[in-house]
Amino acid sequence: MKITLVQNHPVFGDKAGNVARLVAAMESSPSDLYVLPEMAYSGYQFTSVEETRSLAEDLGSSSIDALRAASRRLDACVVFGFPERAGNLLYNSSLALLPDGKEYLYRKTHLFYKEKLFFSPGDTGFKVFDFRNAKIGIAICFDWFFPESFRTLALKGADIVAHSSNLVLPYCQRADFAAAVQNKVFIATANRVGTEQREAEALTFTGGSVLVSPKGEYLLEGPREKEAVLSADIDPAAARVKRLNPWNDALDDRRPEFYDL
Ligand code: ACM
Repeated sequence: MKITLVQNHPVFGDKAGNVARLVAAMESSPSDLYVLPEMAYSGYQFTSVEETRSLAEDLGSSSIDALRAASRRLDACVVFGFPERAGNLLYNSSLALLPDGKEYLYRKTHLFYKEKLFFSPGDTGFKVFDFRNAKIGIAICFDWFFPESFRTLALKGADIVAHSSNLVLPYCQRADFAAAVQNKVFIATANRVGTEQREAEALTFTGGSVLVSPKGEYLLEGPREKEAVLSADIDPAAARVKRLNPWNDALDDRRPEFYDL
């Protein structure tokens, strides 16, 4: 399975322009699975609920229709983050579009920083779906900070975690090593670059998108400050070998009866 991470620098609020550039980036590297950043085409640093609502979209938006068309045309699964409007509520969401028309929506479980002012905490729980010869799980950015997120996806059978991100802290790209090894999954963290200066605050995103294998190999590593399209071929079945040696298994050896306080 060929995976492509798209690392972009969206222009805040220019949804149509950002979507067109994302589609062109995807077209430059035909793949089975594309992982795009969190808030891939809206921009990230909202300043009010009203502004967030004005940029948020339901699943029938023209941006999502353009990505649907790209998924069909490229015969590929496309996973991307966007601000979702669902009735009166706003979610930080990720959508997986499959070329046969199937779709899987995930709403971010662990909101980061001022997202808590603008979005409701996700209510979908972690999702895993089948695509070609892989099981793909969805997580969004700060979910990485809670080991339970990737562990839950691994327990649900994910081979690959499609991790759309807008990272500002410097740790995740290295922490993915531990999460990939401990859960024996592929982790595909697609991050954005650039600085967003909105009102008094500037946020700088750390780029450095990574694809890490169940053995902790960095199969892809993006630049820190530039846009990039990064592709690698993987065998998802490598994530189904949970055994470390004849005595140890990454998931079966858990002792959950001792974990809950
Ligand atoms: C983040 O969750 N966007 C850091």
